[in-house]
Amino acid sequence: MNKKLELADIQGNVLRAYGRFGYPAARYVCLNVKNEIRGRDFIAAVTERVTTAIDWSTEDGKKLKPNWTANIAFSYQGLRKLGLPRASLVEFSPEFSQGMKARKDILGDQGPSAPENWDPVWERNGKDFESNVHILITLNGLMPAPVTEDANGMQEAREASLEHREQAYEWLLEVVKEHDDGVAVLGGHCGANGEKFDYQDADVLFEDGMPTAKEHFGYHDGISDPVIEGVPYDEGRVEGRGKLLEGGKWAPLATGEFLFGHIDEAHEYPPAPRPILLSRNGTYMVFRKLHENVGTFNAFLSEHGKKYPGGEELLAAKFVGRWKDGTPLVLAPNEEKRKAFQDKLKEASLEEQERMLSDFSYEDDMSGAKCPFSAHMRRINPRGSLEQVAGEVPGSMIRSMKGENEGAFDTPGALANRRRIMRRGLPYGTVSDRTSDKGNHGIVIMMLNANINREFEFVQQQWINYGNDFKAANDKEILLGNHNIDGKSPSKAVIQVDPESDDVPYIVSDIPLLVETRGGDYFFVPSMTALRLIARGVIDPT
Ligand code: HEM
Repeated sequence: MNKKLELADIQGNVLRAYGRFGYPAARYVCLNVKNEIRGRDFIAAVTERVTTAIDWSTEDGKKLKPNWTANIAFSYQGLRKLGLPRASLVEFSPEFSQGMKARKDILGDQGPSAPENWDPVWERNGKDFESNVHILITLNGLMPAPVTEDANGMQEAREASLEHREQAYEWLLEVVKEHDDGVAVLGGHCGANGEKFDYQDADVLFEDGMPTAKEHFGYHDGISDPVIEGVPYDEGRVEGRGKLLEGGKWAPLATGEFLFGHIDEAHEYPPAPRPILLSRNGTYMVFRKLHENVGTFNAFLSEHGKKYPGGEELLAAKFVGRWKDGTPLVLAPNEEKRKAFQDKLKEASLEEQERMLSDFSYEDDMSGAKCPFSAHMRRINPRGSLEQVAGEVPGSMIRSMKGENEGAFDTPGALANRRRIMRRGLPYGTVSDRTSDKGNHGIVIMMLNANINREFEFVQQQWINYGNDFKAANDKEILLGNHNIDGKSPSKAVIQVDPESDDVPYIVSDIPLLVETRGGDYFFVPSMTALRLIARGVIDPT
């Protein structure tokens, strides 16, 4: 990587998924701006403690990590309330200025996912387009290295991370108190029994006292995340996370897919508001609280698992594209290969494990026989499989690149490279009864992208809730699709088989709604420079 980003100018959560960096306890706080001038004073005070993306490595190989991190983002209404000039405001993208609720039909947030059913904190104040949530502050507590590697040591380290999160929250409340004529914390984040909280917590899930990378359906999550040009601590992680080049090699994605003021995959600067100091090194964040219907998921999987020839565990893997332990299906399409993959993984160094878990494409699986076209991962990042052109693969609607038009696309992945999404966030809530959907548990997901419409919204609308690009007609992505929202139109998806075999494709019928939206909005994550300009009220778009 030759390019070096200005890490001290970029907010830390943009380049780091904190959970992976030892921060397993998060708290998300929404605020309302009551007064422009005092609101700006509040931003100035918070900015002093905002965590940047600087490298934490020291010369002696140690990491100098803060006990807690703090980051800040603004909704369009927030920027308006803080007095940004109109000439800058109008240059933010329409979807950002409208906000997530207004985009509900594009996002498929209907039925149980409809905004009427979201946590009250996201309610708007009577006018359709005016969100009360103006500022989002995200806090994460550091878990120190455990003194002993057993459950006791882990428990102590975990308690320390919760303590660090509390310290961060106390700091925030103190700053809010000093500026209570300018801002107010908004309540209305729902808990498991309908209680309302002033914040939304999200935490790594622990099992037998040990931290896991699991989400509530039981899958290993948070493995593949885009690697972009210019991030020193992502060097060596590019395989499977960057962009696919001809010949199966990988390179970092262009920075401008995720950060304003940098060249993107089309060799252009992403559209961003003026002045450049306001937008450069900033990005958009899509915040979504997604409830997981764990009882429905388990019942549905068990019912189909009894009929599916490969059994329940393989079927669960087909829903996502990875076995529950994270093994990629295309590298290990059956139980025997999964075991062999895991044995090899256990022997590998941490760096090699990172590569093994992500270094694959779908080029050798153009029929979907290993990883189905409606699997979560394949729909969301098709990794070069959409550019394949006329050729072999008998019986498949999608054709191999090795045909007569070989080379028609010199850049495999050119389509997917413009739809990539950086994921941040953690699971929230606990599941006490795995046969029930009741309660408050799921994933708080924060997706970063420089163009909400081209990246997140396109994936959500065209690839999750519609199957045309995958020659899957109206079939939705299995895990996230807004299945049967009216109770009258059950979905189905096809689990493909090797077209050369005598096997028959399996139809997963009557797919229920597995994941429901419980809230969210679109935010702007400014650079440190922009934060200071906003705080001083000196943005000059001329
Ligand atoms: C409750 C909701 C969700 C669950 C349970 C879930 C689960 C998973 C799992 C288990 C993986 C595989 C592990 C990995 O590669 O990191 C994954 C990958 C991924 N998910 Fe999700 N996810 C959810 C929501 C979403 C949403 C809303 C998006 C974006 C619209 C998304 C985007 C991705 C991406 C980009 C990948 C990596 C794909 C790749 O690069 O191959 N996920 N997810």
